[in-house]
Amino acid sequence: MFQLIYSSVITVDVTQDQMRQIALESRASNEAANLTGALLVSDRGILQILEGDEETVRAVYNRIKKDPRHMGCEILLARQCKAREFRQMAMGFCKASDDDGYEVKMAIMALKARRTERQRIDKLAS
Ligand SMILES: Cc1cc2nc3c(=O)[nH]c(=O)nc-3n(C[C@H](O)[C@H](O)[C@H](O)COP(=O)(O)O)c2cc1C
Repeated sequence: MFQLIYSSVITVDVTQDQMRQIALESRASNEAANLTGALLVSDRGILQILEGDEETVRAVYNRIKKDPRHMGCEILLARQCKAREFRQMAMGFCKASDDDGYEVKMAIMALKARRTERQRIDKLAS
């Protein structure tokens, strides 16, 4: 399992709602590629985690990087890992503020992953 985290900056005329739409639209193709992750959007900044097979993750990242709706993509972390952190999310969406530091943004994404997992378990149990 491979995990890649990058940051980028939203280009001027793209709103947070449009970014949420991008995450929703990505789900079908991510699911087909067995990719999971989360997209965190602050006022101007983006942090995205992509998880899956290394070749697939790098290929999708290279495609996303060229998207004119954001710029300045910079890989913050690229590593092999034992398990997915976002098992149930083809592409989760969460919001943060530009003032939040990297750790806070990562914690917001982790919380989102845990909440989704719990909802899945609740649904299975009900
Ligand atoms: C911030 C951001 C995140 C994106 N995340 C994904 C993603 O997780 N998966 C995906 O397939 N496309 C994602 N996209 C969209 C791709 O850049 C691209 O538009 C889409 O995959 C369609 O590519 P194609 O027109 O070459 O088929 C994202 C775009 C942006 C701006």
